[in-house]
Amino acid sequence: MRKDARVGAFRIAVLASGTGTNLQAILDRLHGRDGIEIVGVASDKPEAMALERARKADVETGVFAGDEYPDRAARDAALADWLEEREVDLVVLAGYMQLLSPAFIARFPNRIVNVHPALLPSFPGLDAVGQALEHGVRVTGVTVHFVDEGVDSGPIILQRAVPISEQRDQAMLEEELHRTEHELLPEAIRLIAAGRARIDKTNPRLVVIDEEA
Ligand code: GRF
Repeated sequence: MRKDARVGAFRIAVLASGTGTNLQAILDRLHGRDGIEIVGVASDKPEAMALERARKADVETGVFAGDEYPDRAARDAALADWLEEREVDLVVLAGYMQLLSPAFIARFPNRIVNVHPALLPSFPGLDAVGQALEHGVRVTGVTVHFVDEGVDSGPIILQRAVPISEQRDQAMLEEELHRTEHELLPEAIRLIAAGRARIDKTNPRLVVIDEEA
């Protein structure tokens, strides 16, 4: 973290592989407000629509495609260097479809967050919405969590429930979950930027949210 991170802007980079609607929500709701700046958007997919959204917002972009590196460790090291050069305070995974290596995570301890379309620890990994429908649950939701070395297993920052309607229609549910993500992810980032979300000293799984002063 930069030494002057508390006096200068809170600098965020977003990693995204796909359409980037969560990135858009962050750009619309946070970028340039309350001392928060999105300073870079990186993707493993050169054609990701998320990169286009970043360019439109005048945010610097980077592409780290798997086939340009000998292995995942090399790609992650290049990505981590790029993020450190931009002196980021927080790395946000918004639909980034690559598992990050332990070495990468160790370079940003408790400074990486992810948004997942289920109430973790239920339905981690791919196709969380399909998993929830298949399981027959009546309530699912969205989780924003810190990233650790496991799959969607890090300390939970915020969660919001989304009821599943009688129709159990996947497209409708996905839309509802996306709407919820677009609120919850910026909310969690705002808490972290304000220094109001921190890991509990005695229970490292617990994120304590301080009341607004
Ligand atoms: C979101 O549903 C997020 O929960 C998951 O990937 C999806 C990304 O969507 N990790 P978008 O690219 O932000 O529209």
